[in-house]
Amino acid sequence: MQEIIARTRTFRRFVEKDPISTATLNDLIDLARLGGSARNGQPWQYLIANSPELCEKIFPYLGWAGYLIDWKGPVEGERPSAYILCLLNKNRLKGPEGEAQFDLGVATQNLLLGAMEKRIGGCRIGAFNPKLASLFKLPDHLHLSLVVALGKPRETVIVEECKDEDDIRYWRDEHGVHHVPKRSLESCLVDIELR
Ligand SMILES: Cc1cc2nc3c(=O)[nH]c(=O)nc-3n(C[C@H](O)[C@H](O)[C@H](O)COP(=O)(O)O)c2cc1C
Repeated sequence: MQEIIARTRTFRRFVEKDPISTATLNDLIDLARLGGSARNGQPWQYLIANSPELCEKIFPYLGWAGYLIDWKGPVEGERPSAYILCLLNKNRLKGPEGEAQFDLGVATQNLLLGAMEKRIGGCRIGAFNPKLASLFKLPDHLHLSLVVALGKPRETVIVEECKDEDDIRYWRDEHGVHHVPKRSLESCLVDIELR
Protein backbone atom coordinates (compact mmCIF):
# COMPACT_ATOMS: atom_id res chain seq x y z
CA MET A 1 0.00 0.00 0.00
CA GLN A 2 2.77 2.44 0.96
CA GLU A 3 4.54 1.75 -2.33
CA ILE A 4 1.50 2.34 -4.55
CA ILE A 5 0.50 5.47 -2.65
CA ALA A 6 4.02 6.88 -2.94
CA ARG A 7 4.10 6.04 -6.65
CA THR A 8 0.71 7.63 -7.32
CA ARG A 9 1.98 11.07 -8.18
CA THR A 10 0.58 13.74 -10.43
CA PHE A 11 1.83 13.27 -13.99
CA ARG A 12 1.51 15.96 -16.63
CA ARG A 13 3.47 14.57 -19.61
CA PHE A 14 2.28 11.43 -21.34
CA VAL A 15 2.76 9.17 -24.34
CA GLU A 16 -0.19 10.68 -26.17
CA LYS A 17 -0.37 8.07 -28.89
CA ASP A 18 -1.06 5.30 -26.35
CA PRO A 19 -4.83 5.08 -26.06
CA ILE A 20 -6.76 4.20 -22.91
CA SER A 21 -9.76 2.02 -23.65
CA THR A 22 -13.26 2.81 -22.50
CA ALA A 23 -13.26 -0.53 -20.65
CA THR A 24 -10.19 0.54 -18.64
CA LEU A 25 -11.73 3.91 -17.86
CA ASN A 26 -14.92 2.18 -16.75
CA ASP A 27 -12.82 0.03 -14.40
CA LEU A 28 -11.28 3.17 -12.89
CA ILE A 29 -14.66 4.84 -12.43
CA ASP A 30 -15.80 1.63 -10.78
CA LEU A 31 -13.11 2.23 -8.15
CA ALA A 32 -14.13 5.88 -7.78
CA ARG A 33 -17.75 4.94 -7.11
CA LEU A 34 -16.74 2.65 -4.22
CA GLY A 35 -15.29 5.53 -2.19
CA GLY A 36 -16.78 6.83 1.01
CA SER A 37 -19.49 9.43 0.63
CA ALA A 38 -21.04 11.82 3.15
CA ARG A 39 -24.56 10.63 3.96
CA ASN A 40 -23.79 8.01 1.28
CA GLY A 41 -25.25 10.45 -1.21
CA GLN A 42 -22.82 9.46 -4.02
CA PRO A 43 -23.58 12.58 -6.03
CA TRP A 44 -20.77 12.24 -8.63
CA GLN A 45 -21.10 11.14 -12.21
CA TYR A 46 -18.30 10.78 -14.70
CA LEU A 47 -18.02 11.57 -18.38
CA ILE A 48 -15.39 9.68 -20.35
CA ALA A 49 -13.44 11.36 -23.14
CA ASN A 50 -10.87 9.16 -24.86
CA SER A 51 -11.14 9.82 -28.57
CA PRO A 52 -8.27 11.91 -29.99
CA GLU A 53 -10.82 14.35 -31.43
CA LEU A 54 -12.54 14.98 -28.10
CA CYS A 55 -9.23 15.11 -26.20
CA GLU A 56 -8.03 17.79 -28.61
CA LYS A 57 -11.19 19.81 -27.96
CA ILE A 58 -10.82 19.58 -24.16
CA PHE A 59 -7.10 20.34 -23.88
CA PRO A 60 -7.16 24.14 -24.51
CA TYR A 61 -9.42 24.67 -21.49
CA LEU A 62 -7.00 23.16 -18.97
CA GLY A 63 -4.57 24.93 -16.63
CA TRP A 64 -1.30 23.13 -15.96
CA ALA A 65 1.25 23.33 -13.16
CA GLY A 66 0.82 26.88 -11.90
CA TYR A 67 4.20 26.86 -10.15
CA LEU A 68 6.09 26.07 -13.36
CA ILE A 69 5.70 29.55 -14.74
CA ASP A 70 7.79 28.97 -17.88
CA TRP A 71 5.93 25.82 -18.84
CA LYS A 72 2.72 26.16 -20.81
CA GLY A 73 1.58 22.57 -20.35
CA PRO A 74 2.29 19.38 -22.26
CA VAL A 75 3.26 19.77 -25.92
CA GLU A 76 1.65 17.85 -28.76
CA GLY A 77 2.60 14.20 -28.45
CA GLU A 78 2.82 14.47 -24.65
CA ARG A 79 -0.79 15.34 -23.95
CA PRO A 80 -3.26 13.12 -22.10
CA SER A 81 -4.91 10.38 -24.12
CA ALA A 82 -8.05 10.39 -21.98
CA TYR A 83 -10.01 12.57 -19.59
CA ILE A 84 -12.62 11.84 -17.00
CA LEU A 85 -14.87 14.81 -16.35
CA CYS A 86 -16.30 14.79 -12.85
CA LEU A 87 -19.85 16.07 -12.77
CA LEU A 88 -21.76 16.90 -9.63
CA ASN A 89 -25.34 15.71 -9.92
CA LYS A 90 -27.12 18.34 -7.83
CA ASN A 91 -30.24 16.18 -7.68
CA ARG A 92 -28.27 13.66 -5.63
CA LEU A 93 -27.01 16.13 -3.02
CA LYS A 94 -28.05 15.07 0.47
CA GLY A 95 -26.24 17.84 2.34
CA PRO A 96 -24.08 20.90 1.74
CA GLU A 97 -22.13 20.93 -1.53
CA GLY A 98 -18.86 21.13 0.42
CA GLU A 99 -19.44 17.57 1.60
CA ALA A 100 -19.62 16.42 -1.99
CA GLN A 101 -16.19 17.90 -2.67
CA PHE A 102 -14.74 15.67 0.06
CA ASP A 103 -16.36 12.71 -1.67
CA LEU A 104 -14.73 13.72 -4.93
CA GLY A 105 -11.31 13.75 -3.30
CA VAL A 106 -11.88 10.24 -2.02
CA ALA A 107 -13.27 9.06 -5.35
CA THR A 108 -10.51 10.49 -7.52
CA GLN A 109 -7.80 9.17 -5.21
CA ASN A 110 -9.29 5.67 -5.61
CA LEU A 111 -9.34 6.25 -9.34
CA LEU A 112 -5.74 7.45 -9.53
CA LEU A 113 -4.46 4.63 -7.32
CA GLY A 114 -6.17 2.12 -9.57
CA ALA A 115 -4.77 3.87 -12.63
CA MET A 116 -1.23 3.76 -11.28
CA GLU A 117 -1.58 0.06 -10.63
CA LYS A 118 -2.23 -0.22 -14.39
CA ARG A 119 0.77 2.08 -15.07
CA ILE A 120 -1.52 4.91 -16.07
CA GLY A 121 -0.69 8.29 -14.61
CA GLY A 122 -3.05 11.17 -14.03
CA CYS A 123 -3.49 14.77 -13.06
CA ARG A 124 -6.51 16.27 -11.36
CA ILE A 125 -7.24 19.63 -12.92
CA GLY A 126 -9.28 22.10 -10.95
CA ALA A 127 -7.89 25.04 -12.93
CA PHE A 128 -9.96 24.61 -16.04
CA ASN A 129 -11.77 27.30 -17.95
CA PRO A 130 -15.45 26.93 -16.98
CA LYS A 131 -16.35 27.36 -20.65
CA LEU A 132 -15.20 23.75 -21.01
CA ALA A 133 -18.67 22.73 -19.81
CA SER A 134 -20.18 24.49 -22.83
CA LEU A 135 -18.62 21.92 -25.15
CA PHE A 136 -21.30 19.54 -23.89
CA LYS A 137 -25.07 19.70 -23.73
CA LEU A 138 -25.01 19.35 -19.95
CA PRO A 139 -28.40 19.41 -18.22
CA ASP A 140 -28.78 22.03 -15.47
CA HIS A 141 -28.40 19.52 -12.64
CA LEU A 142 -24.90 18.43 -13.75
CA HIS A 143 -22.06 20.75 -12.78
CA LEU A 144 -18.52 20.23 -14.02
CA SER A 145 -16.19 20.37 -10.99
CA LEU A 146 -12.95 18.62 -11.85
CA VAL A 147 -11.14 17.10 -14.80
CA VAL A 148 -8.90 14.07 -14.43
CA ALA A 149 -6.32 13.85 -17.21
CA LEU A 150 -4.87 10.40 -17.85
CA GLY A 151 -2.16 8.81 -19.93
CA LYS A 152 0.93 6.67 -19.95
CA PRO A 153 3.49 8.73 -18.00
CA ARG A 154 6.39 10.17 -19.94
CA GLU A 155 8.14 11.87 -17.04
CA THR A 156 9.81 10.99 -13.78
CA VAL A 157 8.25 12.43 -10.66
CA ILE A 158 10.04 12.29 -7.33
CA VAL A 159 8.64 12.97 -3.91
CA GLU A 160 11.04 14.53 -1.46
CA GLU A 161 10.86 16.04 1.96
CA CYS A 162 10.42 19.82 2.09
CA LYS A 163 13.74 21.53 2.70
CA ASP A 164 12.00 24.72 3.64
CA GLU A 165 8.57 24.33 5.23
CA ASP A 166 7.54 27.66 3.73
CA ASP A 167 8.26 26.54 0.19
CA ILE A 168 6.05 23.75 -1.05
CA ARG A 169 6.37 24.62 -4.76
CA TYR A 170 7.06 21.66 -7.00
CA TRP A 171 9.89 22.18 -9.48
CA ARG A 172 11.69 20.60 -12.42
CA ASP A 173 15.42 20.00 -12.56
CA GLU A 174 17.73 20.32 -15.59
CA HIS A 175 16.96 16.72 -16.59
CA GLY A 176 13.23 17.39 -16.65
CA VAL A 177 12.63 15.40 -13.48
CA HIS A 178 9.65 16.77 -11.56
CA HIS A 179 10.20 17.18 -7.80
CA VAL A 180 7.33 17.32 -5.33
CA PRO A 181 8.22 18.56 -1.84
CA LYS A 182 6.09 17.02 0.89
CA ARG A 183 5.98 18.25 4.44
CA SER A 184 7.65 15.90 6.90
CA LEU A 185 5.61 13.59 9.09
CA GLU A 186 6.89 15.55 12.06
CA SER A 187 5.49 18.80 10.70
CA CYS A 188 2.13 17.16 10.02
CA LEU A 189 1.73 16.10 13.63
CA VAL A 190 0.40 18.39 16.31
CA ASP A 191 0.55 17.67 19.96
CA ILE A 192 -1.73 19.99 21.89
CA GLU A 193 -2.49 19.69 25.56
CA LEU A 194 -6.02 19.31 26.86
CA ARG A 195 -7.59 22.39 28.40
C1 LIG B 1 -8.16 19.12 -6.11
C2 LIG B 1 -6.89 19.21 -6.93
C3 LIG B 1 -6.82 20.09 -7.99
C4 LIG B 1 -5.67 20.18 -8.77
N1 LIG B 1 -5.65 21.02 -9.85
C5 LIG B 1 -4.56 21.04 -10.65
C6 LIG B 1 -4.55 21.85 -11.81
O1 LIG B 1 -5.50 22.56 -12.11
N2 LIG B 1 -3.46 21.81 -12.62
C7 LIG B 1 -2.38 21.01 -12.33
O2 LIG B 1 -1.42 20.99 -13.11
N3 LIG B 1 -2.35 20.24 -11.21
C8 LIG B 1 -3.41 20.24 -10.38
N4 LIG B 1 -3.41 19.44 -9.26
C9 LIG B 1 -2.25 18.60 -8.96
C10 LIG B 1 -1.44 19.17 -7.80
O3 LIG B 1 -0.66 20.24 -8.27
C11 LIG B 1 -0.55 18.05 -7.22
O4 LIG B 1 -1.39 17.15 -6.54
C12 LIG B 1 0.51 18.59 -6.28
O5 LIG B 1 1.46 19.32 -7.00
C13 LIG B 1 1.22 17.48 -5.51
O6 LIG B 1 1.75 16.53 -6.37
P1 LIG B 1 1.37 15.01 -6.18
O7 LIG B 1 -0.06 14.85 -6.63
O8 LIG B 1 2.33 14.26 -7.04
O9 LIG B 1 1.52 14.70 -4.72
C14 LIG B 1 -4.55 19.36 -8.46
C15 LIG B 1 -4.62 18.47 -7.39
C16 LIG B 1 -5.78 18.38 -6.63
C17 LIG B 1 -5.84 17.40 -5.49
